[in-house]
Amino acid sequence: MSLDKIHNLACPLDGEVLQLSNQQLRCTNGHSFDIARQGYVNLLPVQQKRSKDPGDSKDMVLARSNFLNTGVYEPVVSLLADKIETLIRDQDKLCLLDAGCGEGYYTDWIVKYLEANNQNKCLSVVGLDISKPAIHEAAKRNKQIGWVVGTNRQPPLLADSVDIILCVFGFQSFDGFKTILKPGGRIILVEPGPNHLTELREIIYSDVKKTEPMALTHLASMGLVLEETQKLNFKTGPIDNDSIRNLLLMTPHFYRANKEGRKAALNLDEIDLTVDVVFRLLKKI
Ligand SMILES: C[S@@+](CC[C@H](N)C(=O)[O-])C[C@H]1O[C@@H](n2cnc3c(N)ncnc32)[C@H](O)[C@@H]1O
Repeated sequence: MSLDKIHNLACPLDGEVLQLSNQQLRCTNGHSFDIARQGYVNLLPVQQKRSKDPGDSKDMVLARSNFLNTGVYEPVVSLLADKIETLIRDQDKLCLLDAGCGEGYYTDWIVKYLEANNQNKCLSVVGLDISKPAIHEAAKRNKQIGWVVGTNRQPPLLADSVDIILCVFGFQSFDGFKTILKPGGRIILVEPGPNHLTELREIIYSDVKKTEPMALTHLASMGLVLEETQKLNFKTGPIDNDSIRNLLLMTPHFYRANKEGRKAALNLDEIDLTVDVVFRLLKKI
């Protein structure tokens, strides 16, 4: 299922289908993209970049990997995998895109779960992120996944070719998503709920805001409908100082917090955190 098994990648310059030839992906107009030694491809042309090194930095990526590898978010990925398994029950062949996959924890976990439980299905899975360090790390996790540097604004996949798009704590681009989604295809959004990591935020900030996920009022005009909303809420149990440090580094909190707030959090020996997550399932009509 690595890049050679994914047949719906599109040239980011002209939208033509990309074919594999001699460690390159090429379109009929002669645009070519090298496959890195680690097995991923960079489909983010300079004209789609809004900064020199877009997306998460290497430090953020490593902190996220170390944090997620402790398994503390396993109930989140497990519920997500369950939802996907239910959706694909009647499909033999499908394409799944993890849009904003980061360092690939969720993509890898889900693919291993689906492969173990749905052995007769033909799955093609793409992990897409705008951060090159993130995709570089992701490619080490699982050689079966097609790892791509690119943007959710214009995902480099053919129109109407993806069955399910996951966007886990990621940058949501409904315009980009709906174009590549098949009619009847689904988007699963995983977003922080109002009490997500509240104990840590109370230490960092003097005024903690309880924000709900964005209202999806504009969906109908884009041919998308909200099918289901589900909340998941659990306590992590004690998280040690290393994990607190990683969690701070991988989220905007580290940069948003003032000096005192950051210091107070970094001095904690441990903390028991609330994970409050909202799953929303959208369908393209
Ligand atoms: C909060 S992280 C979530 C990563 C992963 N889904 C997870 O939960 O572990 C957000 C990710 O979105 C990526 N990102 C930001 N803007 C993006 C864009 N326009 N297109 C694709 N990825 C983007 C970042 O590089 C980062 O890896």
